[in-house]
This record gives sequence, structure tokens and C-alpha cells, in this order.
Amino acid sequence: MKKVGIVTGGGDAPALNATIRAAVIRLARDGVSSIGFLEGWRGVVENNAVELPVERVAGIISEGGTIIGSSRTNPYKNEEKDVPKVLDTFKATGIDALIAIGGDDTLGVADKLHKQEGLNVVGVPKTIDNDLSATDFTFGFFTAVERATQACDWLVTTARSHRRCLIVEVMGRHAGWIAGYTGLAAGADFTLLPEEPIDLDPLEESVKRAFARQGYAIVVVSEGAKIEEEEITQHAELDDFGHVRLGGIAQTLAKMLEKLAGVECRHVVLGHLQRGGSPTAYDRILGTRYGHAVAELALKGGFGNMVALRGNEIVTAPLSEAVAETKTLDPKFQAMLKEYFS
Ligand code: F6P
Repeated sequence: MKKVGIVTGGGDAPALNATIRAAVIRLARDGVSSIGFLEGWRGVVENNAVELPVERVAGIISEGGTIIGSSRTNPYKNEEKDVPKVLDTFKATGIDALIAIGGDDTLGVADKLHKQEGLNVVGVPKTIDNDLSATDFTFGFFTAVERATQACDWLVTTARSHRRCLIVEVMGRHAGWIAGYTGLAAGADFTLLPEEPIDLDPLEESVKRAFARQGYAIVVVSEGAKIEEEEITQHAELDDFGHVRLGGIAQTLAKMLEKLAGVECRHVVLGHLQRGGSPTAYDRILGTRYGHAVAELALKGGFGNMVALRGNEIVTAPLSEAVAETKTLDPKFQAMLKEYFS
């Protein structure tokens, strides 16, 4: 093996750079050079790549985002036109393998390219949502939880000063990992998850109890939480992978809760702040472990597989496992979370 390509796809996640850095360094140790395709699968389709020598990855472990950019481009959307271009890029660049770092969409493409086109592809799971079934945790998740928890801590002082209920909307799509972990870490008075339809009665009761005790309330809501089976979306457009853009539930709930509980409500949408900035030390280490392990997986020819975290061990699993199903928040965790509602 002489040359490996790296691609990062989907929404960025803090510690992507830590992962890239580790893979480049580990490959270089075996005399293998790396190139990075720019802006996700678009860079592979259009053969837009940069050299990634070890010097290029120096100092990036603490940087959020991805030095090679990302996109939600799907080569299988225009399969007849774009998949042959991917094959051409493999030939033109002379890469012996491709490391795909991404969520279920990116890894789904990687899996198809391996199975249907016989390409040498290995994967790394990545998403702040932590909703991939093959792994216990993805890097970026704990950084997002850290950001959201800190935001809730900051909101307490203004909520208390104005005797308000603050409803904090967090990301996570159809899985409540970010909301659940943030709600618990922030000591929120109530947390609403996509895993259960919103029941307004217990929410109202908790908010009233919180006001009676402390004069304010903090409610965390996942962007994917549903009111009467309805998701709240920003607009009707779907992305290349057919996903809706979620968002707006906190505002809807604030209006409803003001009437129901008779308290003043405000909403805050944390949005992309959860993905921005420097990764936590935990995520840098997880990214580094993944990057190191995926380089070794490529070196030994374990194509069609990805690295994953099980317990505290880095293991390998078929790429198809990552995309098998959405991993929702552990029911035991959900039950415990409820014990700490007001
Ligand atoms: O999948 C990661 C994620 O941040 C989700 O939590 C969120 O719904 C979505 O991406 C936002 O996507 P975009 O960056 O395209 O707005």
C-alpha cells in the first residue's frame, strides 16, 4: 500500500481533525502517504483533493471542523453519472484505499462502493448525534453535550432573574442522546426526547413545581421531539439523502406552555453552536483512537469494515452495521432521567 485517500462527509463534528491527524501519522509510519478529498463525496466525484503530509496535520488536534471540508453530497443520488466518476478518481489518484469518516449517510455510500464496485473502503463513525448502531459513542457527541450543558448553566441566571421558563432546543435528529445527556448534566427540570411523544401534562406539572421551589425552570427539548406525532421542520426541502431539516419545537412549546402553566416562557435554539469550536479532551482521544485504528485496518486490508467503540475497546464491525438502524437513547437512561425531573 502506497497511498490512501480520506474523506469527511455529513455534518461536521468536533475531533474530525484529531481523527484525520492520527490516520495520517499512523499511515506515514508505514511509508503510506495520504490525500484528502475536499468537501465530502463531492471531492471524490470531482477528483478534488489535496496532499496531506504529516506537516499539514501538525497542531490540528485542537481545531474543530474538518481541514478537508464536508458536504451532504450523495454520489448515489445521480448514480449513473457520479458513481463512474468515483471509480475514475480512484484510478486517477492512484489511491489504494479510502477512509470514509461520517455518519450513516457517508458510511452507507462507503458500504455500497465496497459491495457494488469492489472499492477498498474502510470507515470511521462520526456524528454529534451518537445515533449509529455499531458503536457505543461517536466523537463530537460529548463536545456537543458540553456546549449545551454550559448554555443551560448560563441560562439559569437570566431565568431566575426574570422568573421565566427557558426552553432550550438541542440537536440530535431522531435520537435523544444530546437532549438526554444535556438534561441530566444540566439538572434540567424536564427533558423532551424524540423517543416518546410529548405529553404536556407532566411537563406542565414539573414546570409549576420548579417555579414553586426555585422561581424559574429550565426545559431541554430535542429538535426531533414530536407533538401529536408531528415533527417540526424548518422547511419542506429534503437534502441529498432525503432528510428533513428539523427545528422550531422550542418556540412552539414556549407558546403552549405559557398558556398552560401560566408562566412567562422564552426559547433558545442552540443550533450549530453545538458543533462549533474546539473538541473536548475525551473527543480528541476518541478521534485519535479511531484514526489510529482505521489506518491499521486499511494497512491490513480490512475493507468493508469500520472501527467502533464497544465498552472501552476499539473494535471493527462491517460498514453495513453502522447503517442498520438508528440507535435511540438507551431506555434505562431515559427512565433514570425522569427520576430527576422537578
Ligand atoms: O447530524 C448532525 C446534525 O447536527 C443534526 O443534529 C442536525 O439535525 C443536522 O446535523 C443539521 O444539519 P445541517 O448542518 O445541514 O443544518
